[in-house]
Amino acid sequence: MQKKLWPAVAIAAAVSAAAHAEIPTSALDFAPLSTVLNAFASAAAHRRAESLVEKMTLDEKLQFIHSQYAMSSVPGGGAGYIQGVPRLGIPDLNMADSSTGSGSTSQPSTTFPATIAVAASWDRQLASNYGKQVAIQLRAQGFGMGLGGGTNLAREPRGGRLFEYLGEDPILAGEMLAERTDGTQSQKVIATIKHYMGNEQEHGRGGGNSQIDERTMRELYLLPFEIAARTAQPGNVMCSYNRVNGTYACENSHILNDVLKNEWHFEGQVQSDWGAAHSTAPAINAGLDEEEDVGSTVYLTPALVKQAIANGSVSTARLNDMVERKLYVMIRDGVMDDPAKGGKSINFAAANAFTQSTAEQSMVLLKNASNQLPLAAGALSRIAVIGGHADAAVLTGGGSGNTRDPVTGAFSGCGGLTFGTSSGCSWWTNPWLKVETPIVSAIQALAPQAKVTFAGNSDQTSPFRAYTQQEISQAATLAANSDVAVVVVAQPAGEDFGDLQSLSLANPTNQDALIEAVAAANPHTVVVVESGNPVLMPWKDKVSAIVEAWYPGEAGGKAIANVLFGKVNPSGKLPVTFPARDQDTPTWGTDGSFQTDPVYAEGLDMGYRWYDAKNITPMFEFGYGLSYTHFGYSDLSVKRLPGGLTDVSFDVRNDGRVAGAEVPQVYLGVPYQGEPPRRLVGWDKVALNPGQSRHVHVVVTPRMQSVWDTTHSRWQYVPGSSVYVGASSRDIRLQGRS
Ligand code: NOJ
Repeated sequence: MQKKLWPAVAIAAAVSAAAHAEIPTSALDFAPLSTVLNAFASAAAHRRAESLVEKMTLDEKLQFIHSQYAMSSVPGGGAGYIQGVPRLGIPDLNMADSSTGSGSTSQPSTTFPATIAVAASWDRQLASNYGKQVAIQLRAQGFGMGLGGGTNLAREPRGGRLFEYLGEDPILAGEMLAERTDGTQSQKVIATIKHYMGNEQEHGRGGGNSQIDERTMRELYLLPFEIAARTAQPGNVMCSYNRVNGTYACENSHILNDVLKNEWHFEGQVQSDWGAAHSTAPAINAGLDEEEDVGSTVYLTPALVKQAIANGSVSTARLNDMVERKLYVMIRDGVMDDPAKGGKSINFAAANAFTQSTAEQSMVLLKNASNQLPLAAGALSRIAVIGGHADAAVLTGGGSGNTRDPVTGAFSGCGGLTFGTSSGCSWWTNPWLKVETPIVSAIQALAPQAKVTFAGNSDQTSPFRAYTQQEISQAATLAANSDVAVVVVAQPAGEDFGDLQSLSLANPTNQDALIEAVAAANPHTVVVVESGNPVLMPWKDKVSAIVEAWYPGEAGGKAIANVLFGKVNPSGKLPVTFPARDQDTPTWGTDGSFQTDPVYAEGLDMGYRWYDAKNITPMFEFGYGLSYTHFGYSDLSVKRLPGGLTDVSFDVRNDGRVAGAEVPQVYLGVPYQGEPPRRLVGWDKVALNPGQSRHVHVVVTPRMQSVWDTTHSRWQYVPGSSVYVGASSRDIRLQGRS
């Protein structure tokens, strides 16, 4: 049913409220109020940075654009370090990885859930708090810059670093990244967004050529960066290892100068990924402001840049611009006047509580036949917990996105992972995280009268090896003699581990066989998945419930138990499609082999758009997730507001008997050639008590109704989109027209 037209005054109020973010709006087209208020502070920061540059000697400037790689010698165990200029009051700037917690190699840090989990929460405030909580630890440890903020899209579902990104949709990823950035920079820590851009896989890691047409770049792969850069103004953009349409990302003038700096008015610095610079003058002139070297081949060294200035291939004005950008960000973000000193104590208990609630808000209930979940503690006398090292640890992602010195300790052994060329187990830290309350003990705590028994592989030296036939039989016997069987399966991934060969849990760990055997032995089988990627579930119809827990962080055991027993009502939704088969994914091709120089031939049909356009039914679609309650949708209204805005509003009602939160999603079908059937343009997350309903507004900006016009190189507004409101990308409950 359509609502009455709003009177003009209400429309004006709505626009103003939207600008003040009281109504969730889709990103872009609005300058946040803080940006406007900060314009004066920003101009003052520019003036101060300029005047500092005028006072710096050439050598002082050159030390500001090159960070030497010597992780062991970076103070505080960080990843990079720029020495300050004490005579001008410029402090040192020390940086550390921070995808899922501080990556300091020498100071203990909290392990937060992976950022794919943050995306699965669809909770903007949670993303902001995540950025803030990680930054609090970075700053206490002496780091003024965090290197988290990964947002390459999940084009390749097998991508080794998906866990440290934000899923497959550019709006979801971009808005969550913007929130994270704001949270980080609120703590006087400069935020990074990375890896800019076209860095969607580990194959061809050292310089594979991502071939992406301009429209696809604009509408998909650049968009999360654009949203974060424009709305949250991160201080640092890390350019990536790969090439983009033939040119290395860190010397690609189109993406750095034309798009990032000129079109988006990015005022911060562009930093190379570690070892991603490949030239001196070409990179500098294309927009690279700072090189992070890896010790072997270096290009922005004082000697080489001096030489380039002397022979005129780099101008002094450009060098000044490089230095000024860094100084500006240090001043603007508070790092100049109040540098992180380190040696501060960290409230690990508070951080642990935050990680637990983050994990709880992000878990996705994928199946719940006959209300198998939540488990009723009082009704269970024998509970089997099987596999996944649920007696000892949870899984985290590996590589620089891992916490290198976790507070809760690392599970021993490298687990037979095949590591990439450079690193190896010791440097990357074993991704199994020992937790104080592993799943088994957390379950026992919630069901004190039950006998909780573990079966599976307890081998700490090789946690990823295949289950033996004997272990599988023992697990099945235990399950047969239990009231319920909880099977935990884990899919390891990480930077420099390579991409996954398949989304299957069968090879090499034999986990599918484990589930099949347990499910055959007990009709009440609940599967908990710890992964950073989608997994295939050929056993889906044989088990009664499935929970996707992601890499849940150091409080993962308790969070999983709370969801299983209904202390927490799951409210996560998938930020990435879970396909039925590897062959159904856009990058599988004929045989699943990876392209070192990937051609993004599917164009705009990536992620859920691929499955919708090709009519392929996924196992679980993007945006999908169940709850212990259910929600009704009604009363859609689509209204045009001044300024090209569209207000999509509707009622969401909790029709069940327990409190819960729903994520209503708004999709548009844009009537323009090449556009996918539906694309996400906005959402909200609403917590509702039983019987309660809320009228939800999602304001869609003109940009969200536009396509990239390649002929004129500009965004073109397309009127007359179909509007879909749904509980997922396929569970569409209401339809209208804009
Ligand atoms: C390389 C990774 O790609 C990047 O994400 C990380 O920040 C740097 N190494 C520093 O560890």
